[in-house]
Amino acid sequence: ANLFVNINDLSNQDLLSMIHQALLFKHGDLIPAAEKQVVANIFFENSTRTASSFQMAEIKLGFPRIVIDPSRSSAAKGESLSDTLKTLKAIGVGIVVIRHSLRGWYEPFYESAGKTLPKLVNAGDGNGQHPSQSLLDLMTISEYFGRFAGLKIRIIGDIYHSRVARSNAEILKRLGAEVTFSGPRDWCDVSLTQYGQYVDLDDGLGQQDVVMLLRVQHERLSADENSTFTPAAYHVQFGLTQARYDCLKNDAIIMHPAPVNRGVEIDSDLVEAPKSRIFQQMANGVFARMAILNYLNSPLTTRELV
Ligand code: CP
Repeated sequence: ANLFVNINDLSNQDLLSMIHQALLFKHGDLIPAAEKQVVANIFFENSTRTASSFQMAEIKLGFPRIVIDPSRSSAAKGESLSDTLKTLKAIGVGIVVIRHSLRGWYEPFYESAGKTLPKLVNAGDGNGQHPSQSLLDLMTISEYFGRFAGLKIRIIGDIYHSRVARSNAEILKRLGAEVTFSGPRDWCDVSLTQYGQYVDLDDGLGQQDVVMLLRVQHERLSADENSTFTPAAYHVQFGLTQARYDCLKNDAIIMHPAPVNRGVEIDSDLVEAPKSRIFQQMANGVFARMAILNYLNSPLTTRELV
């Protein structure tokens, strides 16, 4: 494969195989292929988890890597993304991991990736897609439930600005989950209603298998939205409070892509509660990203169990 830019481009078979590979990596049961491509990491938007877990994945796979700081690169002089990618190809980079604020930054490159340009990984594009987050979320759900079919999954919060909601809703529905959404009416995204209905937060919350909270994306809100936003009021209306936690099913899990606005999307004391998988998601992110880089690198030549 030459790109990993939108989770919905993958077949169910490829997705399930990548989840399986990620779990094998996690348990030390998969040896990566001998071929190692050089990976460049460029994050035009801030990141802690995605940037550092891609680098951890590269270290664990033994891939040589470089990190490019956009503010100190020629992108700051106006060089286009296309010319930056051609430059990286010319100097021998095989795979580029990019986070960018421009939704769909990768769309002009579908044909040239892996040919005149390096292979491309989307580490998040504006409010578009976040496919590596989606893969680690699927891995975390699969690890606990062993299936997707029939799971009730509620996605809650700032749906409109969320690339996590956009990535996860379609693929979860395709894999057989029953997706519903809750959150402020102003942050509803009607384009997602084909994958699940909007319902009041407390409507059926106690029947959900997965409660997937979303960060309020202050950097994508208008000045007016930010000035009128009240964290305490949001928490009462749309947050996971102790009372809502107490009504969840015994085997329900709570997810959040993080960073978490503690006391807003979730009561701070619940971030590491028994049902929370928030830090497990982060740990799984390294192995999911190993599977992504492996998928782009080459077919496994040494897919050995140890
Ligand atoms: N979940 C996530 O993408 O976090 P970062 O922005 O820290 O990478």
